Amino acid sequence: MSTATQQRPLTIALSKGRIFRETLPLLERAGIEVHGDPDSSRKLVLETSVADVRLLILRASDVPTYVEYGAADLGVAGKDVLMEHGGDGLYEPLDLGIARCRLMTAAREGAVMPDGRLRVATKYINTTRRFFAGRGQQVELIKLYGSMELAPVLGLADCIVDVVDTGGTLRANGLVAREHVADISSRLIVNKVAFKTRNRRVREFIDALRQAVPGDKAASAVAQE
Ligand code: ATP
Ligand code: PRP
Repeated sequence: MSTATQQRPLTIALSKGRIFRETLPLLERAGIEVHGDPDSSRKLVLETSVADVRLLILRASDVPTYVEYGAADLGVAGKDVLMEHGGDGLYEPLDLGIARCRLMTAAREGAVMPDGRLRVATKYINTTRRFFAGRGQQVELIKLYGSMELAPVLGLADCIVDVVDTGGTLRANGLVAREHVADISSRLIVNKVAFKTRNRRVREFIDALRQAVPGDKAASAVAQE
Protein backbone atom coordinates (compact mmCIF):
# COMPACT_ATOMS: atom_id res chain seq x y z
CA MET A 1 0.00 0.00 0.00
CA SER A 2 1.20 3.49 -0.82
CA THR A 3 2.25 5.70 2.05
CA ALA A 4 1.67 8.87 0.02
CA THR A 5 -0.70 11.30 1.75
CA GLN A 6 -3.99 11.43 -0.09
CA GLN A 7 -4.93 15.10 -0.52
CA ARG A 8 -8.62 15.97 -0.36
CA PRO A 9 -10.16 17.22 -3.61
CA LEU A 10 -10.10 20.94 -4.30
CA THR A 11 -13.41 21.89 -2.69
CA ILE A 12 -15.46 24.76 -4.16
CA ALA A 13 -18.42 26.18 -2.20
CA LEU A 14 -21.34 27.86 -3.94
CA SER A 15 -25.11 28.27 -3.69
CA LYS A 16 -27.76 26.74 -5.90
CA GLY A 17 -30.04 28.83 -8.09
CA ARG A 18 -28.65 31.92 -9.78
CA ILE A 19 -24.99 31.53 -8.73
CA PHE A 20 -24.81 27.83 -9.62
CA ARG A 21 -26.51 28.47 -12.99
CA GLU A 22 -24.17 31.33 -13.88
CA THR A 23 -20.98 29.66 -12.58
CA LEU A 24 -21.62 26.44 -14.55
CA PRO A 25 -20.69 27.89 -17.98
CA LEU A 26 -17.50 29.39 -16.52
CA LEU A 27 -16.50 26.03 -15.05
CA GLU A 28 -17.27 24.38 -18.39
CA ARG A 29 -15.10 26.87 -20.23
CA ALA A 30 -12.39 26.05 -17.70
CA GLY A 31 -12.75 22.36 -18.65
CA ILE A 32 -14.78 21.28 -15.59
CA GLU A 33 -18.12 19.49 -16.15
CA VAL A 34 -20.31 19.24 -13.06
CA HIS A 35 -21.98 15.89 -12.38
CA GLY A 36 -25.51 16.57 -11.12
CA ASP A 37 -27.89 19.49 -10.73
CA PRO A 38 -28.69 20.87 -7.25
CA ASP A 39 -32.07 22.16 -8.47
CA SER A 40 -33.28 18.62 -9.15
CA SER A 41 -31.24 16.57 -6.69
CA ARG A 42 -30.81 16.60 -2.91
CA LYS A 43 -27.06 15.98 -3.12
CA LEU A 44 -24.99 18.65 -1.39
CA VAL A 45 -21.63 17.43 -2.72
CA LEU A 46 -21.25 17.25 -6.49
CA GLU A 47 -18.36 15.52 -8.22
CA THR A 48 -16.98 16.88 -11.47
CA SER A 49 -15.22 15.59 -14.58
CA VAL A 50 -11.93 16.64 -12.94
CA ALA A 51 -11.12 14.00 -10.34
CA ASP A 52 -9.67 16.42 -7.78
CA VAL A 53 -12.43 19.06 -7.99
CA ARG A 54 -15.79 18.85 -6.16
CA LEU A 55 -18.53 21.35 -5.36
CA LEU A 56 -20.39 21.97 -2.09
CA ILE A 57 -23.94 23.32 -2.35
CA LEU A 58 -24.63 25.78 0.50
CA ARG A 59 -26.89 28.66 1.48
CA ALA A 60 -25.46 31.78 -0.22
CA SER A 61 -24.72 33.47 3.10
CA ASP A 62 -22.81 30.40 4.41
CA VAL A 63 -20.29 30.29 1.54
CA PRO A 64 -17.78 32.80 3.07
CA THR A 65 -17.93 30.95 6.41
CA TYR A 66 -17.04 27.57 4.85
CA VAL A 67 -14.16 29.12 2.92
CA GLU A 68 -12.85 31.22 5.81
CA TYR A 69 -12.68 28.17 8.11
CA GLY A 70 -11.13 26.02 5.39
CA ALA A 71 -14.03 23.55 5.08
CA ALA A 72 -13.90 24.63 1.43
CA ASP A 73 -10.77 25.84 -0.40
CA LEU A 74 -12.57 28.24 -2.72
CA GLY A 75 -16.07 29.63 -3.17
CA VAL A 76 -18.33 31.81 -5.26
CA ALA A 77 -20.30 34.50 -3.42
CA GLY A 78 -22.08 37.77 -4.17
CA LYS A 79 -20.26 40.95 -3.15
CA ASP A 80 -23.36 41.78 -1.05
CA VAL A 81 -22.80 38.60 0.97
CA LEU A 82 -19.04 39.30 1.27
CA MET A 83 -19.58 42.89 2.42
CA GLU A 84 -22.02 41.67 5.04
CA HIS A 85 -19.67 38.85 6.15
CA GLY A 86 -16.83 41.36 6.58
CA GLY A 87 -13.40 40.63 7.99
CA ASP A 88 -10.17 39.97 6.15
CA GLY A 89 -10.16 36.18 6.42
CA LEU A 90 -10.48 35.60 2.67
CA TYR A 91 -8.70 36.38 -0.57
CA GLU A 92 -10.94 37.68 -3.33
CA PRO A 93 -8.82 37.26 -6.46
CA LEU A 94 -11.43 37.37 -9.22
CA ASP A 95 -14.61 39.23 -10.17
CA LEU A 96 -16.61 36.63 -12.10
CA GLY A 97 -18.95 39.29 -13.50
CA ILE A 98 -22.04 37.13 -12.86
CA ALA A 99 -25.26 37.73 -10.82
CA ARG A 100 -24.87 41.47 -11.34
CA CYS A 101 -27.19 43.80 -9.48
CA ARG A 102 -27.06 46.87 -7.22
CA LEU A 103 -27.53 47.22 -3.49
CA MET A 104 -29.98 50.11 -3.02
CA THR A 105 -32.13 51.79 -0.46
CA ALA A 106 -35.80 51.87 -1.44
CA ALA A 107 -38.99 53.34 -0.02
CA ARG A 108 -42.68 53.78 -0.89
CA GLU A 109 -43.20 56.05 -3.86
CA GLY A 110 -43.61 59.62 -2.58
CA ALA A 111 -42.82 58.66 1.02
CA VAL A 112 -41.36 61.45 3.17
CA MET A 113 -38.59 60.25 5.46
CA PRO A 114 -39.04 61.12 9.18
CA ASP A 115 -37.04 63.91 10.84
CA GLY A 116 -36.13 61.54 13.68
CA ARG A 117 -34.37 58.22 13.50
CA LEU A 118 -34.92 56.29 10.27
CA ARG A 119 -36.18 52.70 10.52
CA VAL A 120 -34.49 50.47 7.97
CA ALA A 121 -35.44 46.84 7.32
CA THR A 122 -32.84 44.60 5.67
CA LYS A 123 -31.00 41.32 5.75
CA TYR A 124 -27.77 43.34 5.28
CA ILE A 125 -27.54 44.69 8.84
CA ASN A 126 -23.76 45.37 8.96
CA THR A 127 -23.56 46.89 5.49
CA THR A 128 -26.58 49.11 6.17
CA ARG A 129 -25.21 50.31 9.49
CA ARG A 130 -21.90 51.20 7.80
CA PHE A 131 -23.64 52.95 4.91
CA PHE A 132 -25.73 55.25 7.11
CA ALA A 133 -22.92 55.76 9.65
CA GLY A 134 -20.75 56.92 6.73
CA ARG A 135 -23.13 59.82 6.28
CA GLY A 136 -23.45 60.49 10.01
CA GLN A 137 -26.98 59.12 10.21
CA GLN A 138 -28.05 56.84 13.05
CA VAL A 139 -30.72 54.35 12.08
CA GLU A 140 -32.88 51.73 13.74
CA LEU A 141 -32.20 48.43 11.99
CA ILE A 142 -34.81 45.70 11.63
CA LYS A 143 -33.35 42.35 10.59
CA LEU A 144 -35.37 40.43 8.00
CA TYR A 145 -34.54 37.25 6.07
CA GLY A 146 -36.56 37.87 2.88
CA SER A 147 -39.51 39.67 1.27
CA MET A 148 -37.93 42.95 2.38
CA GLU A 149 -40.17 44.87 -0.06
CA LEU A 150 -43.17 44.28 2.21
CA ALA A 151 -41.73 46.18 5.18
CA PRO A 152 -42.34 49.78 3.98
CA VAL A 153 -45.73 48.80 2.54
CA LEU A 154 -46.95 47.61 5.95
CA GLY A 155 -45.27 50.40 7.92
CA LEU A 156 -42.73 48.11 9.57
CA ALA A 157 -39.92 50.34 8.25
CA ASP A 158 -39.41 53.67 6.44
CA CYS A 159 -37.12 52.08 3.90
CA ILE A 160 -35.23 48.91 3.01
CA VAL A 161 -31.78 48.00 1.75
CA ASP A 162 -31.90 45.18 -0.80
CA VAL A 163 -30.49 44.09 -4.13
CA VAL A 164 -32.16 45.47 -7.25
CA ASP A 165 -31.71 44.22 -10.80
CA THR A 166 -34.58 45.05 -13.17
CA GLY A 167 -36.48 46.97 -10.49
CA GLY A 168 -39.50 44.73 -11.15
CA THR A 169 -39.87 43.59 -7.54
CA LEU A 170 -39.80 47.19 -6.27
CA ARG A 171 -42.34 48.34 -8.89
CA ALA A 172 -44.67 45.43 -8.20
CA ASN A 173 -44.82 46.51 -4.56
CA GLY A 174 -45.13 50.29 -5.05
CA LEU A 175 -41.54 51.05 -4.03
CA VAL A 176 -38.86 53.15 -5.71
CA ALA A 177 -35.09 52.90 -5.46
CA ARG A 178 -33.46 55.88 -3.76
CA GLU A 179 -29.79 55.65 -2.90
CA HIS A 180 -27.05 53.52 -4.39
CA VAL A 181 -25.14 51.55 -1.77
CA ALA A 182 -22.91 49.34 -3.95
CA ASP A 183 -22.55 47.64 -7.32
CA ILE A 184 -22.73 43.87 -6.88
CA SER A 185 -21.35 40.90 -8.79
CA SER A 186 -20.14 37.48 -7.68
CA ARG A 187 -16.53 36.93 -6.69
CA LEU A 188 -14.24 33.93 -6.46
CA ILE A 189 -13.00 33.69 -2.88
CA VAL A 190 -10.08 31.65 -1.55
CA ASN A 191 -9.09 30.31 1.86
CA LYS A 192 -5.81 31.93 2.91
CA VAL A 193 -4.20 28.73 4.18
CA ALA A 194 -5.17 26.76 1.06
CA PHE A 195 -3.68 29.55 -1.04
CA LYS A 196 -0.33 29.00 0.68
CA THR A 197 -0.27 25.24 1.20
CA ARG A 198 -1.83 24.28 -2.17
CA ASN A 199 -0.56 27.31 -4.02
CA ARG A 200 0.20 25.69 -7.36
CA ARG A 201 -3.17 23.88 -7.67
CA VAL A 202 -5.20 26.83 -6.36
CA ARG A 203 -3.45 29.26 -8.74
CA GLU A 204 -4.03 26.87 -11.64
CA PHE A 205 -7.76 26.85 -10.81
CA ILE A 206 -7.95 30.66 -10.46
CA ASP A 207 -6.10 31.14 -13.76
CA ALA A 208 -8.40 28.70 -15.57
CA LEU A 209 -11.47 30.58 -14.31
CA ARG A 210 -9.89 33.95 -15.11
CA GLN A 211 -9.50 32.79 -18.73
CA ALA A 212 -13.15 31.68 -18.71
CA VAL A 213 -14.55 35.07 -17.66
CA PRO A 214 -15.67 36.76 -20.88
CA GLY A 215 -14.56 40.19 -22.09
CA ASP A 216 -12.59 42.53 -19.90
CA LYS A 217 -14.29 41.48 -16.66
CA ALA A 218 -11.26 39.52 -15.60
CA ALA A 219 -9.15 42.62 -16.09
CA SER A 220 -11.01 44.22 -13.18
CA ALA A 221 -9.94 41.37 -10.91
CA VAL A 222 -8.18 42.50 -7.78
CA ALA A 223 -5.42 40.13 -6.72
CA GLN A 224 -4.79 40.42 -3.00
CA GLU A 225 -1.94 38.03 -2.68
P1 ATP B 1 -30.25 32.89 0.64
O1 ATP B 1 -30.96 31.70 0.09
O2 ATP B 1 -29.08 32.51 1.49
O3 ATP B 1 -31.15 33.94 1.25
P2 ATP B 1 -30.32 34.43 -1.77
O4 ATP B 1 -31.79 34.14 -1.85
O5 ATP B 1 -29.89 35.86 -1.67
O6 ATP B 1 -29.60 33.61 -0.61
P3 ATP B 1 -29.88 34.15 -4.54
O7 ATP B 1 -31.22 34.80 -4.75
O8 ATP B 1 -29.54 32.91 -5.31
O9 ATP B 1 -29.63 33.79 -3.04
O10 ATP B 1 -28.81 35.26 -4.82
C1 ATP B 1 -27.44 34.97 -4.84
C2 ATP B 1 -26.67 36.24 -5.16
O11 ATP B 1 -27.08 36.72 -6.43
C3 ATP B 1 -26.93 37.40 -4.18
O12 ATP B 1 -26.06 37.33 -3.08
C4 ATP B 1 -26.64 38.59 -5.08
O13 ATP B 1 -25.26 38.84 -5.13
C5 ATP B 1 -27.13 38.13 -6.46
N1 ATP B 1 -28.52 38.49 -6.76
C6 ATP B 1 -29.59 38.45 -5.94
N2 ATP B 1 -30.72 38.84 -6.56
C7 ATP B 1 -30.34 39.14 -7.82
C8 ATP B 1 -31.06 39.59 -8.97
N3 ATP B 1 -32.36 39.81 -8.94
N4 ATP B 1 -30.36 39.76 -10.12
C9 ATP B 1 -29.04 39.53 -10.18
N5 ATP B 1 -28.31 39.11 -9.11
C10 ATP B 1 -28.94 38.91 -7.95
C1 PRP C 1 -33.91 39.11 -5.45
C2 PRP C 1 -33.97 40.24 -4.43
C3 PRP C 1 -35.05 41.15 -4.94
C4 PRP C 1 -35.09 40.84 -6.43
C5 PRP C 1 -34.60 42.02 -7.21
O1 PRP C 1 -34.88 38.18 -5.16
O2 PRP C 1 -34.23 39.75 -3.12
O3 PRP C 1 -36.29 40.87 -4.33
O4 PRP C 1 -34.21 39.75 -6.68
O5 PRP C 1 -34.59 41.75 -8.59
P1 PRP C 1 -35.42 42.66 -9.61
O6 PRP C 1 -34.99 44.08 -9.37
O7 PRP C 1 -35.01 42.16 -10.97
O8 PRP C 1 -36.88 42.45 -9.33
P2 PRP C 1 -34.87 36.75 -5.90
O9 PRP C 1 -35.63 36.81 -7.17
O10 PRP C 1 -33.49 36.21 -6.01
O11 PRP C 1 -35.64 35.89 -4.87
P3 PRP C 1 -35.16 35.58 -3.38
O12 PRP C 1 -36.04 36.48 -2.55
O13 PRP C 1 -35.42 34.13 -3.25
O14 PRP C 1 -33.70 35.91 -3.25
